[in-house]
Amino acid sequence: MSYEEAATVPFGGRDALHFLRLGHIQPGQKMLINGAGGSIGTFAVQLAKIMGAEVTAVDSTAKLDMLKSIGADHVVDYTKEDFNKNGVVYDVIFDVVGTVSLADSADSLTPDGAYLLANPLRGQILRGPWHRWRSSHRVVMQTASGTVEDLVYLRDLIEAGKLQTVIDRRYPLEEIVEAHRYVETGAKIGNVVITIAHDDIDNKGFEA
Ligand SMILES: NC(=O)c1ccc[n+]([C@@H]2O[C@H](COP(=O)([O-])OP(=O)(O)OC[C@H]3O[C@@H](n4cnc5c(N)ncnc54)[C@H](OP(=O)(O)O)[C@@H]3O)[C@@H](O)[C@H]2O)c1
Repeated sequence: MSYEEAATVPFGGRDALHFLRLGHIQPGQKMLINGAGGSIGTFAVQLAKIMGAEVTAVDSTAKLDMLKSIGADHVVDYTKEDFNKNGVVYDVIFDVVGTVSLADSADSLTPDGAYLLANPLRGQILRGPWHRWRSSHRVVMQTASGTVEDLVYLRDLIEAGKLQTVIDRRYPLEEIVEAHRYVETGAKIGNVVITIAHDDIDNKGFEA
């Protein structure tokens, strides 16, 4: 793995692992990942598959082929289809992007299922405690954290060829403004990385 590929792991990989562990997913269970085509989501799809889940990945049209290529069993194009209307009931709904309505998706979650919310927006924050009280669903809203052991676990998966990073574009440090502009278009597939040349680093000991 190159430095550029590795750079995506402590963010998307570690954060995905944090939330997936809280999902207590069992082999054969159904997991839906909303916003699966970005940094956290592309790792979450692969890690959920490693944990034995049947994975449905939700994102926009241009990201669906990539999501299938990294192992998603099913894909849903949110610009054309509402997953709440496909009749499938999931054991875990991992909302990476913050657009899932806890109320509207309640029937898409098993009675003892879990919502994992990586980016809880106001509606989810306000509704979360009420939803916990009214249902037997778990509603998990946390800031992801990680340990060295988590990174070693991810590294071992990478070295075993079971986990890959998805990189859309690479920008040199001096073009970081353009990189941000591209990310803000929403078109990014997986990750955008900034490459740092020797000359950019004031550290004579650095080797790349
Ligand atoms: N809780 C924590 O500790 C923690 C840690 C890190 C990050 N976060 C947060 O987690 C969020 C996700 O991070 P990320 O880096 O994975 O973001 P990202 O790379 O931007 O990925 C988000 C994905 O969601 C898709 N999307 C947008 N609207 C959608 C919708 N309505 N339905 C389904 N998919 C939709 C986007 O695709 P399109 O634009 O093509 O629609 C994109 O592929 C960020 O808001 C970040 O701040 C939380």
